[in-house]
Amino acid sequence: MTRSLLGLDFGGSSIKGALVDVETGRTLTSRVSIKTPEPSTPDNCIPAIAGLVRQIGGEGPVGLAVPCVVQRGIARTAANIDHKWIGVDGAALLGATIGRPVTFLNDADAAGLAEMKFGAGRGSSGVVIVLTFGTGIGSAIYIDGHLVPNTEFGHMEIRGMEAEHRASARVRTAESLDWPAWAERVNEFLARMHALFWPDLFILSGAVTENYAHFGPLLKSSAEIRSAQFTSEAGIVGAALAAAMRR
Ligand code: BGC
Repeated sequence: MTRSLLGLDFGGSSIKGALVDVETGRTLTSRVSIKTPEPSTPDNCIPAIAGLVRQIGGEGPVGLAVPCVVQRGIARTAANIDHKWIGVDGAALLGATIGRPVTFLNDADAAGLAEMKFGAGRGSSGVVIVLTFGTGIGSAIYIDGHLVPNTEFGHMEIRGMEAEHRASARVRTAESLDWPAWAERVNEFLARMHALFWPDLFILSGAVTENYAHFGPLLKSSAEIRSAQFTSEAGIVGAALAAAMRR
């Protein structure tokens, strides 16, 4: 029997969700997306997310992926969303509003879950680093399939700037970088990550990987590099998987 759970991915520009078959990783409904309210405070976003949940429907546990370090259920940072999220127990807050159990986790950790279970990292052992390129750069590191949560490699300093301020997908668009210029910045980031962690595999994720044919061949690393399989749905799928795992 299909077990479908709702995955939600909350980002600086949009909040999106879908029902996911957690046995296969496939989305069962088309993705519903709303613009992130401004300011993106919990007071503004929780009702908006609750509306999205009502619209998508389903029942049972819900997974909510956020661009925050989430330690023991509490958001400890808030990148690209309002800082009022810091200190918030997102599962308790959303759960009380929608009357369903909620699992609250970092968005890149969620994307990593999806890739490791059903995507480009399926069956991979050793050290795997999943990097998500979007508004920021998210990261997840897996060791023999086990996640070390809340790594924040996008904030690593390169040439005096945070890596995500040089090499995120948002920066590529904002600075009108062509693929070779952006790939050069990504290569610099991969080289730094490789020197520190010696991963066996990098998985690059985010909607930008829909254009992997343009930049993938320009990427270099001593580690293997793969494009994610879930592109822009990884966070949604991973959030639903996290909700399934908590049950
Ligand atoms: C945040 C991470 C998040 C990533 C992707 C970074 O700015 O610090 O927690 O995973 O953006 O949204």
